Amino acid sequence: MTMNKKFAVVLLLSATVVLGIAASQPPQEQPKRNLKVLPKDISHEDLDKIMHGFNDALGVKCNFCHAGAQVDGRFKMDFASDEKPEKQMARNMWKMTGKINKKFFKFNSGTAGAVPPVTCMTCHNGKPHPSNGAAAH
Ligand code: HEC
Ligand code: HEC
Repeated sequence: MTMNKKFAVVLLLSATVVLGIAASQPPQEQPKRNLKVLPKDISHEDLDKIMHGFNDALGVKCNFCHAGAQVDGRFKMDFASDEKPEKQMARNMWKMTGKINKKFFKFNSGTAGAVPPVTCMTCHNGKPHPSNGAAAH
């Protein structure tokens, strides 16, 4: 082995060790989750699906429920913030919808692939405020 080759092997080995250490460290800047109704270990895809479902059901954008702030001169969404009352309302709605399905439709959310009979869409139908039928609404 030439000196250069030896050096390359040593370099490769130390790179592997460094990468190994880096991989075993918890990811930095992982924002703290603030989940009170959804499972704490929910996957990114499932969370995304539910959030886009909210958008569709209410006919709104993410900032209807989520607050943002100016960070380093740029506007950034702060999804973990509970600043907007609409977010808390959505949590109440989530619980309410779950109760309706369980109590009145005997829906078992533990069944894989089961679709709940009542969803946000059932009442909201693409609007933030479902009509209560009153003329003044
Ligand atoms: C109708 C209200 C509503 C809308 C619209 C909405 N969200 Fe949410 N979002 C919530 C609520 C409520 C929670 C917290 C759930 C909980 O407490 O378990 C949440 C949580 C989240 C979280 C997790 C935050 C954390 O604590 O780590 C992310 C990320 C997120 N939403 C992204 C989005 C995105 C992206 C959109 C648009 C595509 C969106 N949301 C639209 C209500 C909403
Ligand atoms: C059984 C019918 C029903 C279901 C199901 C339902 N909602 Fe609602 N929701 C309402 C009614 C009624 C209001 C009050 C409307 C008003 O104040 O004009 C409301 C209000 C809200 C508001 C407050 C809007 C605002 O401007 O303050 C949010 C947010 C919301 N719902 C989110 C949801 C989400 C998310 C779901 C599904 C998890 C859901 N709702 C399921 C009937 C329903």
